[in-house]
Amino acid sequence: MAGADLAAGKSAHIIVLGNEKGGSGKSTTAVHIGVALAHAGFKVAMIDLDSRQRTVARYLENRAAFAASRDLALPTPDVAVIADGPEAAAELELRLDQARGLDFIVIDTPGRDSELARAALARADTIVTPINDSFVDFDLIGQVDPETFAVKRPSFYAELIWDARRARAKVDGVQVDWVVLRNRLSTLEARNRKRVGAALDALAKRVGFRVVGGLAERVIFREFFPRGLTLLDRSALEDFSLSHVGARAELRALLAGLNLPGWDPAMLA
Ligand SMILES: Nc1ncnc2c1ncn2[C@@H]1O[C@H](COP(=O)(O)OP(=O)(O)OP(=O)(O)O)[C@@H](O)[C@H]1O
Ligand SMILES: [Mg+2]
Repeated sequence: MAGADLAAGKSAHIIVLGNEKGGSGKSTTAVHIGVALAHAGFKVAMIDLDSRQRTVARYLENRAAFAASRDLALPTPDVAVIADGPEAAAELELRLDQARGLDFIVIDTPGRDSELARAALARADTIVTPINDSFVDFDLIGQVDPETFAVKRPSFYAELIWDARRARAKVDGVQVDWVVLRNRLSTLEARNRKRVGAALDALAKRVGFRVVGGLAERVIFREFFPRGLTLLDRSALEDFSLSHVGARAELRALLAGLNLPGWDPAMLA
């Protein structure tokens, strides 16, 4: 992390990817957001709180190695990994407090509850929760009626975010933006997509999140990792197909949907 930015005075906007459901696309989305912000010219750093899987750190290490081996200039955020432990929350606070001068910090959390994940959520300006379009994933944020699929009540993760937002509003009056991303959408499941969409819209009003389209299910997202690439690294992508064009449009829409301060869609042109 850029400790040299200590004195600059401005607070970085903190984006936290969170969902206790494993495999919902937090790390993949985190890297795409972080790299997109770097491509757009922002000063951005990432923090990986999943010290066991280290997906974000490994992704960006692969990226740096690939860029070096091909002599490519790939915009890459710095990344720090913080491991669970008695000092972890304090270390996170320290890093966030030292991040003045950065524009954005993107924090990835593990797919489970942890004190550290909660500490990160408590500091978020924007919380991004990718969910797979399935009622199994939906169940963490809301329960639905088995006959009508109408939302019966919010679940524990919605309550956890609610508490984090309320605490933040009390501490410094900041209105935290919570965005639920519909991730890994499949075109083949129209009925399920409609039902999950209706349930999300209903719950959104009740607990106060916004629903934004995420990344569709595409095999390219699984293949990028060994080289640490993202959709935006055109100079490094060997075959740029129609699928990439569609996926880039989704990524642009995703970033626009986050309503980040200073973001202008033209920055990714
Ligand atoms: N849009 C997508 N299309 C296809 N595969 C995807 C997509 N997004 C993520 N994946 C794949 O799904 C798996 C889980 O993604 P990822 O590791 O980003 O999720 P996660 O929420 O960070 O998981 P965890 O909770 O274990 O940290 C990975 O194999 C990843 O490559
Ligand atoms: Mg992950």
